[in-house]
Amino acid sequence: MTFEKYDDMVFVFDHPLIQHKVSLLRDKNTDTKEFRELVSEIAMLMTYEVTRDMPLKEIELETPIGIARTKVLSGKKMGIVPILRAGLGMVDGMLRLMPMIKVGHIGLYRDHETLEPVEYYCKLPEDASDREMVLLDPMLATGGSASAAISFLKQRDITQIKLMCLIAAPEGIRKVRSVHPDVQIFCACVDQGLNSDAYIVPGLGDAGDRLFGTK
Ligand code: PRP
Ligand code: URA
Repeated sequence: MTFEKYDDMVFVFDHPLIQHKVSLLRDKNTDTKEFRELVSEIAMLMTYEVTRDMPLKEIELETPIGIARTKVLSGKKMGIVPILRAGLGMVDGMLRLMPMIKVGHIGLYRDHETLEPVEYYCKLPEDASDREMVLLDPMLATGGSASAAISFLKQRDITQIKLMCLIAAPEGIRKVRSVHPDVQIFCACVDQGLNSDAYIVPGLGDAGDRLFGTK
């Protein structure tokens, strides 16, 4: 799969299947069932590239015909952490390719007075600090949620973190790049920007509501 490099740490996927599916996702006439399936499928397709640098080791095994020297995954294991709630939509697609990976969850809300993101829920695998953790959220808008979630992971001694989203605004990319320059960002599209309500334009609307049919 090829991708456009926004900068050294930002990867924008240009695969035709991903682009096609993101277009369907954006369409306001796409219903909840199809939206959910598309988010899952795109997450699965993006997994190929997000895992590209996973280390391999050579092993020897017996096939029905003879001895094969072949490769299997080795080194740091991976975990995924959806940001509640819309990130949940991306979990299933990744698990279909990597059924053994562990799944943490992180929930954030924005404090009405300080406007700062507050963590209201966090449950991570016990060995999370030994894993590479991929944070999942379909939307990177102002970047406030993703930056805060990355900070919360770092506070728990997790040092290897990637961010995987579907649609990103330039503002969100700039925010995450400035606060967490060590974190690679993977996304399917970079849109024009944000409107006055901090929604991505043209984006796809409210990802959580469209995934769960709450509006
Ligand atoms: C959405 C989205 C991100 C966040 C992005 O979640 O899924 O988590 O907004 O915005 P930001 O980059 O400006 O922080 P939302 O807060 O609407 O919650 P939800 O998933 O429960 O719908
Ligand atoms: N959250 C969403 O769900 N959509 C946006 O466009 C911005 C934040």
